[in-house]
Amino acid sequence: MMEDKSATGGIRDMMGMVPTQERARGWVTVMSGMAKAQSAITMMVTSDRERVLARAKILENRLRLDLIDASECPGAGAGAGGGVGGATLVMTDDHLELADDESKPGPGVMVDWRDFLGRGKHGLSRRQPLARAIGKDARTILDATAGLGRDAAMLAALGYQVRAIERSPIVFALLEDGLQRSLNDPIMRDALGGRLRLEEGDARAILAKDGPAPDAVLIDPMYPPKKKSSAMARKSIRIVRQVVGADDDAAELLAIARRVARRVVVKRADDSPPLVADPTATITGNTVRYDVYAR
Ligand SMILES: C[S@@+](CC[C@H](N)C(=O)[O-])C[C@H]1O[C@@H](n2cnc3c(N)ncnc32)[C@H](O)[C@@H]1O
Repeated sequence: MMEDKSATGGIRDMMGMVPTQERARGWVTVMSGMAKAQSAITMMVTSDRERVLARAKILENRLRLDLIDASECPGAGAGAGGGVGGATLVMTDDHLELADDESKPGPGVMVDWRDFLGRGKHGLSRRQPLARAIGKDARTILDATAGLGRDAAMLAALGYQVRAIERSPIVFALLEDGLQRSLNDPIMRDALGGRLRLEEGDARAILAKDGPAPDAVLIDPMYPPKKKSSAMARKSIRIVRQVVGADDDAAELLAIARRVARRVVVKRADDSPPLVADPTATITGNTVRYDVYAR
């Protein structure tokens, strides 16, 4: 963990330490020593609005990011990764995004469901592979690997009650930001219908606790990017993987989920072997496959 060289720490204190030019742009660089992270996490604020700085301060405390002096970090503010060889959480005037050293500030990964929940989007059907895998009898779903929340938001829009669990605090912060923006948009709020609930934590522990069992559990662990997937998908996977690493414990998650729920759906790349042999059913999409374990 980097040592905080400022007297009191905190983004505002840091503002007094960065070069004037950086401060004028409202850029602050902080670094995390989070145990699970694959590389250093840097945080930048590209706004000097009081409201945004206050939000950044809260997030900084919550994620336990340690401040470093920008002058100790050569190249800070040049690329989104600040030249420190890691990923950067960027808080702008209106959203939070995650970028890596290869990205310029701006085109990082953010939670954005407008392409399927926004105005004029009618692509949602219960005939699509994910909904068929979940089944028409299910009402409550636990998404054990929420990630950027696309599956969870889609299932909520299809009418399921969704409890989405994410264990990476950084990815969870992106999710919360995306849900909040969606709720500020009347069309997207309507589509979600109050059916999506986010929860930070490890789904293995959450599932193992007593409580009403969900009708179905969805598991979508990280897997290698596909040749056929879009450039954007490859980029978002690459950046998220930098922060969360590989989900090597997915088979254990599946075992726990199968003890709890009557139906568990595992999303896989179409050329990957099943996480556990002999799924009850398999439903194939364009580039992914859903393995269903039912009892
Ligand atoms: C491939 S992404 C999921 C993408 C997601 N289905 C979507 O539509 O955006 C996998 C995510 O699951 C999370 N994850 C993996 N195992 C988990 C667990 N046991 N509990 C909670 N989150 C987990 C990882 O941190 C990662 O963010």
